[in-house]
Amino acid sequence: MGRCHEISYKYLCFNAFLMIRYSAPGKIILFGEHAVVYGEPAIAIAIDKRFRCEISKSGQNRTTINGLIFDPEKQNYLNCAMEKLGIDEELEIHTSSELISGAGMGSSAAVTVASIACLRGLTDDIDKKNIAKMAFEVEYEVQGNASPIDTSTSTQGGGIILSPTKNSGFLWSIKKGETTWNIHKSDIPKLNLVLGNTGVHSPTGKLVAKIKEFYKRSFFARDIVNQVGLIVQRGHEALKNEDLVEVGRLMDQNQHLLSCLGVSHPKLDALIDAAREHSYGAKLSGVGGGGVMIALTDEPEETSKAIEEAGGQAYILPSTNKGLKLE
Ligand code: MEV
Repeated sequence: MGRCHEISYKYLCFNAFLMIRYSAPGKIILFGEHAVVYGEPAIAIAIDKRFRCEISKSGQNRTTINGLIFDPEKQNYLNCAMEKLGIDEELEIHTSSELISGAGMGSSAAVTVASIACLRGLTDDIDKKNIAKMAFEVEYEVQGNASPIDTSTSTQGGGIILSPTKNSGFLWSIKKGETTWNIHKSDIPKLNLVLGNTGVHSPTGKLVAKIKEFYKRSFFARDIVNQVGLIVQRGHEALKNEDLVEVGRLMDQNQHLLSCLGVSHPKLDALIDAAREHSYGAKLSGVGGGGVMIALTDEPEETSKAIEEAGGQAYILPSTNKGLKLE
């Protein structure tokens, strides 16, 4: 009996006629990146830019992706998901993405979440909790460290808050070592957010590993992480009260702490400075070291123009309540 048969009580075997298609969104982090890895709270929103994945059994004796031979080194998230699920069949995989990879927009989380749903052969009820948990395990393994913020936001969609305690809107908990993250839905008010891409590629794993070393060795880094946690709590209150002036002020403070942690970049600083003239506040979003920044504003057109004039690519960001979705 092959592996596929052994696990078929959980996962459908791929057959020649079964093709499964899922999509999952990217995200932006409003408050708390990096500190969330150490159990501090964080707030993210799913964005209306998606990764799409389509998987069927291959008619050939090799796995292909978008017509090319599957390279486990290049497709490390997908490969790790396949290993975790014990998939040893040859597959035909097609993907497309509206997300910029290595920019802090949650591209690897969307890849992981949509691929796991396809690979599990899910065609009816989506068990979001288990997919979010497995997707986190994949990100953790590939990157060497992670929090579940990107993968849970991509799975669930909408506004998401992670905190050490369980509060209203609780969805699921994820535990790794000593750290437990409680994942909640958060009704974030409608925000006008503009995203600015520096164009500087910044893979998550490297920077997360660098901060891990800094955190282990330095009281200063641990203090910054604690301060970010306090800002997230205040940011959550300000969002609940729809106090955009306070939200913007706290975004600026969060950016200052991220700079102290060493995860900003001169290009991020230039886009953030330019955007602030028309915004309540602005900060990097995601891993930093390049990648993207976000600005909260009532003047999205002017903010976009300022970001472009400072050398970035600007996007006015619609958020989405749609998380993982069968296509
Ligand atoms: C990356 O989008 C967010 C980080 O906090 C890493 C993580 O939480 O896994 C930098």
